[in-house]
Amino acid sequence: MLAVVKSVALYGLQGYLVRVEVDVGGGLPAFEIVGLPDAAVREARDRVRAALKNAGFTFPLGRITVNLAPADIRKEGPGYDLALAAGILAATGQVPAQAAARFVYFGELSLDGTVRGVCGVLPAVAAAVDYGENEVVVAAANAHEAALVAGATVYPVENLQELAQFLAGERELPQPCRVDLAAGEPRKATLDFSEVRGQLYAKRALEVAAAGGHNVLMIGTPGTGKTMLARRLPTILPAMTFAEALEVTKIHSLAGLLPPGEPLLRERPFRAPHHTASPAALVGGGRYPRPGEVSLAHHGVLFLDEFPEFSKEALEALRQPLEDGIVTVSRAAAAVSFPARIMLVAAANPCPCGYQGDQEKECTCSPAQLQRYRSRLSGPLLDRIDICITVPRVRFEELAGEPAGESSAAVRQRVEGARAVQRERFRGTPVTCNAAMTGAQVRRFCGPTREAQRMLQAAFRQMALSARAYDRVLKVARTIADLEGAEAIGTAHIAEALQYREREGAAF
Ligand SMILES: Nc1ncnc2c1ncn2[C@@H]1O[C@H](COP(=O)(O)OP(=O)(O)O)[C@@H](O)[C@H]1O
Ligand SMILES: [Mg+2]
Ligand SMILES: [Zn+2]
Repeated sequence: MLAVVKSVALYGLQGYLVRVEVDVGGGLPAFEIVGLPDAAVREARDRVRAALKNAGFTFPLGRITVNLAPADIRKEGPGYDLALAAGILAATGQVPAQAAARFVYFGELSLDGTVRGVCGVLPAVAAAVDYGENEVVVAAANAHEAALVAGATVYPVENLQELAQFLAGERELPQPCRVDLAAGEPRKATLDFSEVRGQLYAKRALEVAAAGGHNVLMIGTPGTGKTMLARRLPTILPAMTFAEALEVTKIHSLAGLLPPGEPLLRERPFRAPHHTASPAALVGGGRYPRPGEVSLAHHGVLFLDEFPEFSKEALEALRQPLEDGIVTVSRAAAAVSFPARIMLVAAANPCPCGYQGDQEKECTCSPAQLQRYRSRLSGPLLDRIDICITVPRVRFEELAGEPAGESSAAVRQRVEGARAVQRERFRGTPVTCNAAMTGAQVRRFCGPTREAQRMLQAAFRQMALSARAYDRVLKVARTIADLEGAEAIGTAHIAEALQYREREGAAF
């Protein structure tokens, strides 16, 4: 007898509805799955057989043929187990076929018949609902995540017996409690800018960076608070909209990184991969393409500590996503894209020993070492960094005596104000912030006053700025003016923006 149930194939974040057709007929015992399944789907065969038997169901003796349609969509991962089991139970009359056909199934089976959670439930359920299939059966472990999808009716099952009783109408399944989506405020952040004492210059630079979406490089000796500052950058970025939060959560769902008990990620991500991270770890890859660090940091901050220690290949791999806000992972079969709209924060010691320019410790590096190190700080990615600052050592008395700084909430309010100006400015274009302006937009929106223009030209000659650096200074100056609510870019804005180009200046 033939039974048909539904599941979802995931291609990165994109999901496609899959028909799982199960035919059980006479003949020699066999269990075949067709429709371009990959190795994992073939492994599913063994799990499904064992799970059904161990859960006390009859595994049919005849010939089982499963067709996963459409055939031209690549099926990957263990998420089809549940649909296969439901299909076999329906085709053998162990559950009512009509009931089984109603649902979309997405879950993995243990050999004992327990239904296990899988990666990517959120994007999978969202896709099903887009297809008009809003009744989904998932592992109880994934229920809250699935329930985030507006319009989805989620039936969580613990094991195959529960599924069978549910399909036979003998059991009600608990409804997952709804996430309170109206509660827009993220839960109280644990980190706050007020904890950073002194460092007014660095904090101001990060505020400007946050306001315009500019990437930042911080240079400073160990212990000056670079990591501390970077970690707090997400707390001064505007709160995520619900759509952004959902996007971030989908990516983490796909990576299997949703923290338990927190179905919707409301805080902007902060990712800090180690400098030994491979290009694949940074941009994504793998047998079932998984998002990399740059996508896990989507809508948040990617922090590259010990920036010069990252391999050339790794930094090269980050170039395209930084440029486009999207990363494409190419594989033999297909190319999968993940969003990757991030703020990049890089940190570096001033020299290999770490103490060049320090008031307290002597630098022990040779001129040749210094030369080599600096050349590594001028790679292709540096082209995408608008703001470069030195973070000096804060004196102990200052640390202890200084009152707590401004709170993240207060800074964020100014950042939101500047972002509102930018939204208005770029209305109807794909650009969202000053950092992403095209050359033409810089020309159009960043005209300085005559005085400011003169100042910029003088600096241009003195600092030997490249044409690209010139544009970057203007973009940053635009952001500084926006923070102030100023229409025109004046000398004060240009002067501050020039400060953030220390690499071209004497300091570095
Ligand atoms: N400005 C500061 N205000 C308060 N604490 C600070 C400050 N700078 C450094 N610290 C303390 O020193 C520690 C080391 O700072 P860290 O951010 O790791 O430095 P870096 O990354 O530059 O090596 C921090 O965890 C923090 O406790
Ligand atoms: Mg550090
Ligand atoms: Zn040194």
